[in-house]
Amino acid sequence: MAVKEVKEKILVVDDEPSIRKYLQTLLEVDGFDVAAVSSGREALTRVSGGERPDFIILDVLMPEMNGLDTLQELMRVDRSLNVIMLSCSNEVGTVVEAIRLGAHDYLTKPFEKTELDAAMLKSRQKKQLTQENQALREYCEQITEDLSFLVASPQMVRIRQQILQIAPVDVPVFICGESGVGKEVVARMIHLRSKRRNQAFVKVNCAALPGELLESELFGYEQGAFTGAVRAKPGKFEMANKGTIFLDEIAEMSTHLQAKLLHVLQDHQYSRLGGRHLVETDVRVLAATNVDVQEAMRTGRFREDLYYRLNVLSIMVPPLRERTTEIPLLFRHFLEKYSEKFGKTLQAPSKHLMDAAMNYPWPGNLRELENFVKRYVILEDDEGSLRELVEMSATRQRISPREVTNVPKEQGLKALVRGLKDEAEMEAIGDALEKTRWCRKDAAKMLGISYKALLYKMRQFNLDTPRTRRTAAAKTEETAPATVGAKVE
Ligand SMILES: Nc1ncnc2c1ncn2[C@@H]1O[C@H](COP(=O)(O)OP(=O)(O)OP(=O)(O)O)[C@@H](O)[C@H]1O
Ligand SMILES: [Mg+2]
Repeated sequence: MAVKEVKEKILVVDDEPSIRKYLQTLLEVDGFDVAAVSSGREALTRVSGGERPDFIILDVLMPEMNGLDTLQELMRVDRSLNVIMLSCSNEVGTVVEAIRLGAHDYLTKPFEKTELDAAMLKSRQKKQLTQENQALREYCEQITEDLSFLVASPQMVRIRQQILQIAPVDVPVFICGESGVGKEVVARMIHLRSKRRNQAFVKVNCAALPGELLESELFGYEQGAFTGAVRAKPGKFEMANKGTIFLDEIAEMSTHLQAKLLHVLQDHQYSRLGGRHLVETDVRVLAATNVDVQEAMRTGRFREDLYYRLNVLSIMVPPLRERTTEIPLLFRHFLEKYSEKFGKTLQAPSKHLMDAAMNYPWPGNLRELENFVKRYVILEDDEGSLRELVEMSATRQRISPREVTNVPKEQGLKALVRGLKDEAEMEAIGDALEKTRWCRKDAAKMLGISYKALLYKMRQFNLDTPRTRRTAAAKTEETAPATVGAKVE
């Protein structure tokens, strides 16, 4: 196939027809695609309408809107336009003003062709420098993001090594771990270290949308595909093309959609909802879950074939209670983050508070620790934070006496109230689930809470199946059910 040469576009703005003609001929001979207009107004109309010439050659002295006013308006539309000014006078004030407003260069009529060539070369170099600066800024942002992946335990050192090994290999990765352990951070890190780093990273939370909506979110739809589809919309797979898609909470996806996803992974093509054409896709899939996949496969909630296709490589992020050596470092990290964000002076935590933090099991993992530190920064009350931790430990002991070890024994009135509240909540959720035959969507509706909130609560109370619900509600001393601390090797 012949490759069509793309010519650089130049817009000449001058009220004198002879100058317009002269410049147009001169530049067209040099291979530029030249358009010429006679007023600033016309130039502005073109640029406001979306035209982006590579260069604009703009006369200063023009009736109505002069060159400087035009320049100012053009810069308002797009600061990155390359404008070279032309004028009969080289009055210093005008030159300075033009450069201040954003012109790249200033030529005095009559000028030599070589002067114009030099001005364009300089302008081109300036543009390139701006682009390089932009790339450098993005690179720095990437490094900063890398730095916010803290690693201070042998387990996380191993995970970091795994990420570095896995990232450049273009295959799916399955990331497991409890809620809040850092699965998304791991996924982003894989993308940033992969060959696809300069392309999109698109996250989709599979638990946030019911089945049909999730399908249209992932694969897009054509106009009229269903009631309300007034115009066609691309899906997340299309947006992530050449990049990475992160399917978070994948175990919440309906089995129907799991089947469709499996086909997409096999054939690298699919069609939008209501569409007849196949869309080719080149996307790396990263998937994450905090449920026990083996159990989900046993109960038929998760397709085995999909699991094996996604699980080419897997990373298991351990819960925070298994890497307590990281707590001081993470505490400090969140402390710096939120002190800066809220404009507070950094207050180091007392030894008592840090000891309590090290002993608390952090069932919500890094996210719970992060929110705790956020409150600590806002409230500036070390003792209050310590009390909060002690109460949280006491509550956990009431709910799951086996899981919590090494926590202070005091139990305040607040802890008692919180414990009773949790118990009541657990009962209400259990009842709603039973009444709706474990249809979580209906149960959420019945309870007047969001689907996501229900999933969160179910995990918090270990309410996963009728069997675990009964054991949890009866508060027997059985070990934690499968959804918590699930490991996939
Ligand atoms: N290694 C790490 N270093 C620094 N911060 C981290 C690290 N891992 C996670 N975090 C922070 O902890 C919080 C929770 O992480 P993340 O959202 O990745 O967890 P998750 O496992 O995806 O949670 P969920 O299951 O609830 O979606 C985020 O604010 C994240 O920035
Ligand atoms: Mg997540």
